[in-house]
Amino acid sequence: MTMEFTDRLTRVEPSATLAISALATELEQDGADVVDLSVGEPDFPTPQNIVDAGQDAMDAGHTGYTTSAGILELREAIADKLAADGLDHGPEEIIVTPGAKQALYEIVQALIQDGDEVALLDPAWVSYEAMVKMAGGDLTRVDLSDSDFQLEPALDDLAAAVSDETELLIVNSPSNPTGAVYTDAALEGVRDLAVEHDITVISDEIYKEITYGVEPTSLGTFDGMADRTITVNGFSKAYSMTGWRLGYFAGPQDLIDQAGKLHSHSVSSAVNFVQHAGVEALENTDDAVAQMVDAFGQRRELVIDLLDDHDVDVAVPDGAFYMMLPVADDDQAWCEGALEDAHVATVPGSAFGTPGYARISYAASEERLEEGIERLAEEDYL
Ligand SMILES: Cc1ncc(COP(=O)(O)O)c(C=O)c1O
Repeated sequence: MTMEFTDRLTRVEPSATLAISALATELEQDGADVVDLSVGEPDFPTPQNIVDAGQDAMDAGHTGYTTSAGILELREAIADKLAADGLDHGPEEIIVTPGAKQALYEIVQALIQDGDEVALLDPAWVSYEAMVKMAGGDLTRVDLSDSDFQLEPALDDLAAAVSDETELLIVNSPSNPTGAVYTDAALEGVRDLAVEHDITVISDEIYKEITYGVEPTSLGTFDGMADRTITVNGFSKAYSMTGWRLGYFAGPQDLIDQAGKLHSHSVSSAVNFVQHAGVEALENTDDAVAQMVDAFGQRRELVIDLLDDHDVDVAVPDGAFYMMLPVADDDQAWCEGALEDAHVATVPGSAFGTPGYARISYAASEERLEEGIERLAEEDYL
C-alpha cells in the first residue's frame, strides 16, 4: 500500500544534522573514537536534589494525570521566577509542557496558518523553521552573520524585513546556535518594530540562565511588549534535565486559552512527578546551576584560546554553550570531512540557515574539547 502524506509534513526537510549523527554512529560502530561537539545538551547529570524530588514524588503517588496546564505549585513557582525577571504572569497565564519544544509547537500552531509570515533571526535554531512550515507559514529571514551574530547592528535589516504582514517574530537570546545575547538596545529595536507593525513575538529564553558576565533582559519587560510577548523557557539546559521533558510558556490569557486546547487534546499534561521535580529545580538549585555555568564559562575560554592558537577568530558568545566556527562555504562537506578525517562531530551552519559555519557545542569535558580541536588542526580543518 502507498500511503499519502500531508502537505504539512512533506514541506519539512529531514534535519541536516541527521546526516552527521548517522555518520558519527557508523564511525563509532566501526570502533572510531568520535569527539562529539555536536550535542545540544549539558554533559552534567541532573542535580541530585531534583532527582530525589522526582523519586519522592513517584513514591508519594504523583503518577496520575495532572490538570492540563500543569500542577498549580509548579505554575506558581514559574510565576515567581518570571516575576524575578520582571515579567508579570499569574499561574493562569502559564502552561507547563513536556519540553520547551512542545511549548513552541503549540504557540506556532495557535498563531500561524497558511500564508502567515514569520520572521526569524539567522542563524536560528533548526526547529523554528520546521514548526512554521508545518503550520503553513512563510519565513522571512534576517541574517546576523555580518554583525558577529548581534542584532543591534542589524536592526535596519530587521526593519526592512518585517511589515504589517508579519504575524510573528521569534527571538532567541541567548541564541542557539551562536551564543549571542542581544543588547537592551537591540530588544528595544524589536519592541519598536513589533509595536509599529502589530507583531506578536516569541521570546525563547531557554538559555537565559547560562550567561557569562551579562544579564539578558526578558523581552516581555519592555514597554508595549507585555500583551504581545510569549515567553518560553524550560528545564533542559539550566538544570540539565533534557530527558525529563519539562518546559513552559507564559503569555496573554487569550493565547493561553487557545493554545491550551491544543495542549489538552495532544499531550494532556506534562508528566506528573516530573512537574514536582521542576518545583524543586526552581526553588532549590541555584548553587548547582551556578557551578555548571562556571564550568561552561571555563570551557568557553579554553575553546577560544585553543582556536586563537590556530589563528581562528570566533564571535565570542556571551551565553548558552555554543559558538559558530567559520569554515568552508560548503559547511556540510566541511562537517562531513571533519567527522570522517578527524573524527570530530559538529553541526553545519546551513542547518540553522547560515552556511559557511559549523556549530561547536562546548558541553563536553576540557580533555575532549582539547582533543577535538587538536584533531581538527592536525587534519587541516582549522
Ligand atoms: C533554542 C532552543 N529552544 C528550545 C529548545 C527545546 O528544548 P526542550 O524541548 O528540551 O525544552 C532547544 C533545545 O535544543 C533550543 O536550543
